[in-house]
Amino acid sequence: MVTISGKARLAGVLGWPVGHSKSPLLHNFWFERHGLDGVYVPLPVAPEDLAPVMRALPRMGFLGCNVTLPHKAAMLDLVDAVDPLAAAIGAVNTVLVGDAGSLTGYNTDGLGFLAHLDGCAPDWRAATRRVVLLGAGGAARALAFTFLAAGIHELALVNRTPERAAALVARLGDQNDAAVLALPWAERHRALEGADLLVNTTSLGMVGQPALDLDLAALPATAIVADIVYTPLSTPLLSEARRRGHRTVDGLGMLLHQAVPGFTHWGGTRPVVDEATRRLMLAPPVAEPKAG
Ligand code: ATR
Repeated sequence: MVTISGKARLAGVLGWPVGHSKSPLLHNFWFERHGLDGVYVPLPVAPEDLAPVMRALPRMGFLGCNVTLPHKAAMLDLVDAVDPLAAAIGAVNTVLVGDAGSLTGYNTDGLGFLAHLDGCAPDWRAATRRVVLLGAGGAARALAFTFLAAGIHELALVNRTPERAAALVARLGDQNDAAVLALPWAERHRALEGADLLVNTTSLGMVGQPALDLDLAALPATAIVADIVYTPLSTPLLSEARRRGHRTVDGLGMLLHQAVPGFTHWGGTRPVVDEATRRLMLAPPVAEPKAG
């Protein structure tokens, strides 16, 4: 039984809609597990209400919030300071309230992915020169900037709509002297030549979506294959990669690890991402009582 006192630490997730978010489940699990007096609530906020809500948040005693669709880009202009990585990515997913009520925006999506990769394949940093990213949406943008900040040498972006990949390459600019290139979707099979890490950031392979049509023949045997799709946990891409003997990294870890910096701030302690945390997120949602 969770008890929340009048002094409880407050945090939440802002979105519109927000009902699908698993963040309340995760953060309240951590509050309870660490024996903390705190609560994390869903905050359904329409776009036109976002600015006044953000001004009110610290005044209501909130220690911070996570941000989900459609507010991630708008949040850049509503906080007092933006972390450089979030500014480069152009999206904020975590806002921390400082001592004087100031708001600082961060993007922890890419760092969450890397933290999970560190856990699954601790040698990847030393072994990775060339990364192939499939997709050019918001998730690809976060990963691309984070990979370049981590010092990889070559990044190939392969996307169905070539203009989106080209726009992301232009946005990435000259980062750390890395070679960044956009490749046509038709080239995706050949793009795998010489890759050390392949990451799918498209929605292909997700429940209800077609599988990703990708021939892994050109991928070196030592390459790691990752997917950010986590429903199902083992996507057709990951199953095929495993069958071929590749090390694989599933999408659930990114979802869990991106939450760590926020909770560390509002919980005052660093939460552990372990098997129990993974099981919690995979459990089917509690059924709503039927009307009538
Ligand atoms: P997110 O912000 O989660 O990355 P998004 O911006 O909608 O989501 O991006 C989805 C990605 O999946 C895009 O790269 C998209 O390709 P396009 O830019 O061409 O739209 C990719 N995607 C979705 N469906 C696809 C399909 N059937 N074939 C190839 N790529 C697909």
